[in-house]
Amino acid sequence: LRKMVKICCLGAGYVGGPTMAVIALKCPAIEVCVVDISVPRIAAWNSDQLPIYEPGLDEVVKQCRGRNLFFSNDIEKHVAEADIIFVSVNTPTKTRGLGAGKAADLTYWESAARMIADVAKSDKIVVEKSTVPVKTAEAIEKILTHNSKGINFQILSNPEFLAEGTAIEDLLKPDRVLIGGRETPEGQKAVKALKDVYANWVPEDSILITNLWSAELSKLAANAFLAQRISSVNAISALCEATGANVTEVAYAVGKDSRIGPKFLNASVGFGGSCFQKDILNLVYICECNGLPEVANYWKQVIKINDYQKSRFVNRVVSSMFNTVSGKKIAVLGFAFKKDTGDTRETAAIDVCKGLLGDKAKISIYDPQVTEDQIQRDLTMNKFDWDHPIHLQPMSPTAVKQVSVTWDAYEATKGAHGICILTEWDEFKTLDYKKIYDSMQKPAFLFDGRNVIDAEKMREIGFIVYSIGKPLDPWLKDMPAVA
Ligand code: NAD
Ligand code: UDX
Repeated sequence: LRKMVKICCLGAGYVGGPTMAVIALKCPAIEVCVVDISVPRIAAWNSDQLPIYEPGLDEVVKQCRGRNLFFSNDIEKHVAEADIIFVSVNTPTKTRGLGAGKAADLTYWESAARMIADVAKSDKIVVEKSTVPVKTAEAIEKILTHNSKGINFQILSNPEFLAEGTAIEDLLKPDRVLIGGRETPEGQKAVKALKDVYANWVPEDSILITNLWSAELSKLAANAFLAQRISSVNAISALCEATGANVTEVAYAVGKDSRIGPKFLNASVGFGGSCFQKDILNLVYICECNGLPEVANYWKQVIKINDYQKSRFVNRVVSSMFNTVSGKKIAVLGFAFKKDTGDTRETAAIDVCKGLLGDKAKISIYDPQVTEDQIQRDLTMNKFDWDHPIHLQPMSPTAVKQVSVTWDAYEATKGAHGICILTEWDEFKTLDYKKIYDSMQKPAFLFDGRNVIDAEKMREIGFIVYSIGKPLDPWLKDMPAVA
C-alpha cells in the first residue's frame, strides 16, 4: 500500500482556499495543491493580496505556501499526480431549462469529473466538497467509470460546514467532519484514507461516517435548518413590531430552552450568502422530483419569509419618510452579507438597494471590505448569475448612476435624509453618531437592520429610529408600512 501524500483541490474559492490551507497547516507530510481555471484568482492566492478576506487566513497561508501548499492553474498536472482530489467548484442554481430557478447546475462539476477521468493514470479518491444534490455521487461515479481506462475511482461525500468570517476557526475546530462513502471494502478503504487526513487535528469522535446519500443530504438539511431558525425569528420580529414586544428579549427567552439553544436567533434584514437560498431551492427541487410537494412547500416558506423581511424593511424606510424617497440621499452602511467578510453573494443589501432605487432614492454606500466595482456588478447582475467562475460573470454594461460608493462612513452619511444599517460590522457601533446627525437633513432617520446601535442613545441625539423587531417610535406607528 502506497502512502497517501498528494492532495489536489479543484476550485480555489471561499471553500477550496481556506479548507486546503488548514489541511496543509495540520498535515505537514501531505502536499496540497489548489487549482482553478481562473488565472487572476490563482495569481491572487500567490500574492500578498489574497482573493478573499477571512480573519486568520493570511497567517495560515503565509506559514504553508511554498512549503506544502501550492496554488496553480496547471490543473491536469496536479490532478494526474494526486491521490485524493477534492472538488470544490461552483454549483449554481440553474437559470434556464429544466428546473430553472431551483435545481443545481452541475455543469462545472461534470466538466471537472470528465477532466479527471481524462487525465488520471492511477487510482483516485474523488471527494465531493461542493454542496450537491442527493445522488450526485452516483452520476459522478458513472462519468468516471464509463470514461476510465481501468482506473479505480472511489467517490466520497465530504460536505463543508464552515461559515464565512469564521472559516479558519471553524476549520480548526469543526463541530463535526462528515464523510460518506460506498459500503464496499474499497469504499470503506477510501473513507479511512480521508479520515486519516482529518485525524491529524480533529478528534476521532467528531468524524462521522455515513453512507453517501446521508452525507449529501445532511449538508442540504443542515443549511435548511439554520436558515429556518432565522426565518422563524424574523417572522416573530414582524409580530413584535405590531405588538410592542422586543424580539431580542423574546429570542433570549426562547433560546434559554436548552432544547432550542441560544445561537443563530438574531433577527435581521434577512439572511444572505452563497449557500442558504441556493441550497434550500435545491432541496425544494429534489422534494418535487421525488413526488413530495408538501415537503417542498414547507421549505419554500423559509425563503418566502426571507423575501418578505427584505421588502418589509424597504417599505418601512419609504413609509416613514413621508411615503417617498425620490431624490433623497439614503446612506447604506454595510453591503456584505455578514460582518468580517467582503462577500456580497445574495446579500440582503442587494434587494434593499434595488427596492430603494425603485423608489428613486440616491444611495451612498460604505462597507469596509466591498469595492465599488463589486457593488455596481451586484446591482446590475441578473438573479443567480453571480455563482459562476469569476471570469465568466457578465461585466455590468453601465453603472447605476444613482449609486455612489465611498470608503468613509461620515462621507456616506453627510447630507443624507436617512441611514440604513445592513451589515453588523463592529465599527458601526462606535461611529460618532452625533457628528453624523449634525451633518444630515432633518428629520434624520436611522433604520437599523441588524440591531447594532443603541436606539435609546440615538433618540437622545435626535434621530428617528427603527430597529428590527423592537417597539416602534411614535413616528413610525403613525406611518404604518404595508408589506
Ligand atoms: P467560489 O465561487 O468561491 O469558488 C469556486 C471556484 O471553482 C471558482 O474559483 C471557479 O473558478 C472554480 N472552478 C469552477 N469550475 C472549475 C473547474 N472545472 N476546474 C477548476 N476550478 C473550477 O465558490 P465557494 O464559495 O468556494 O463554493 C464552492 C462550493 O462549496 C459550492 O458548491 C458551495 O455551495 C459549497 N459551499 C460553500 C460554502 C461557503 O461558505 N461559501 C460553505 C460550504 C459549502
Ligand atoms: C452558512 C452556514 O452557517 C455554514 O455552515 C455553511 O457551510 C455555509 O452557509 P455562511 O452563509 O457563510 O454559512 O454564514 P452564516 O453565519 O450562516 O450566515 C448566513 C446569513 O444569515 C448571513 O446573512 C447572516 O447575517 C444571517 N444570520 C445569521 C442572521 O440573520 N441571523 C442569525 O442569527 C445568524
